Amino acid sequence: PRVVFSGIQPTGTPHLGNLLGALLNWVKLQRDAAPDDQLIYSIVGWHALTLPQDPKALSASRRDMLAVLLAVGLDPKRSVIFHQDENPHHAELAWILNCITPMGKLRRMTTWKSRLAASRNARDDSEVDESLLNVGLFTYPVLQAADILAYRATHVPVGEDQQQHIELCRDLAEGFNRTFKGKKPLFPLPQHVITSSCRVLSLKDPSSKMSKSSPDLNSRILLTDGTSKVRSKIKGAVTDSTLGVTYDPEARPGAANLLSILAACTGEDVETVASRYADKGHGEFKADVADAVEELIKGPRAEFERLRGETAYLASIAEEGAAKARELSASTLREVRTRIGLV
Ligand code: TYM
Repeated sequence: PRVVFSGIQPTGTPHLGNLLGALLNWVKLQRDAAPDDQLIYSIVGWHALTLPQDPKALSASRRDMLAVLLAVGLDPKRSVIFHQDENPHHAELAWILNCITPMGKLRRMTTWKSRLAASRNARDDSEVDESLLNVGLFTYPVLQAADILAYRATHVPVGEDQQQHIELCRDLAEGFNRTFKGKKPLFPLPQHVITSSCRVLSLKDPSSKMSKSSPDLNSRILLTDGTSKVRSKIKGAVTDSTLGVTYDPEARPGAANLLSILAACTGEDVETVASRYADKGHGEFKADVADAVEELIKGPRAEFERLRGETAYLASIAEEGAAKARELSASTLREVRTRIGLV
């Protein structure tokens, strides 16, 4: 049987990239899972702390994210849905893994390198070094590996931006297995699952991914955006002035992004979708993209608005989820402690 694990940070309302790149795949995996497959989905509050967070806003986002996971269709009776920060085993394992992780490996992580570059840009000083960044940001991928390995997960559905983190997780699992031998290797090497290859790009700058941290609100579509917002954001998406619509990610990244969003919404192949718009105008095309996005998000959006007020219900789901999660990871941690000599 498979053990599926994935996580999402509770930083603000999820956007179309999170939905198409991650959450809807989690739901698909839940639907297609074999009866003895285990599905574990986590809201990773500790990861969110690597960037400055307003405590009030974090607390609200953390609860909202749970409502989102339920609203998109995850079923707490089938999947374990919980807050990472309510299972201390993750932090314990992260510490142990920190002690077998070479600094050089973490310095090569593209997420770390881009944070470093961002901090240089912000200060307009190319000499700025890592001494200004926090240690949590540096060791972020080790905590992510601990999340996965605490459940001895075999499959990790994430967007392609997370690929390097999954590779590090495999390296650490392999290193641990080699160093701390038992009757059998302790950790399976988890596989990266990309169930849909949709990487959603910014509507305003299709050279970068759609992200929660971009200051331009029009660059992303939020789950909470109403019909007219969806329409106006897509209408304002950057495309080009070439007539007709073709799928050419290199030369026409804006149009290609909208085509892949449309294809992901309708479940079709991007080339098939593109062939329908070869000689249509951009206005008509964008209107159809907006309709498809609206169709995709309207159900989850309404369910989210309903659920986010149900605080007692959400608290009970969180509590049950965390109890199940702790129970599942307890046996891994017991075995880890035995193998390393902390018993
Ligand atoms: P996070 O919270 O940044 O993103 C959650 C998921 O959304 C995907 N994603 C996208 N997919 C397509 N297009 C986009 N524009 C886009 N933006 C985000 C991400 O690939 C991810 O799957 N480090 C993780 C959270 C994490 C985790 C884990 C994941 C912590 N521990 C253990 C898996 C297993 C992250 O920051 O995701």
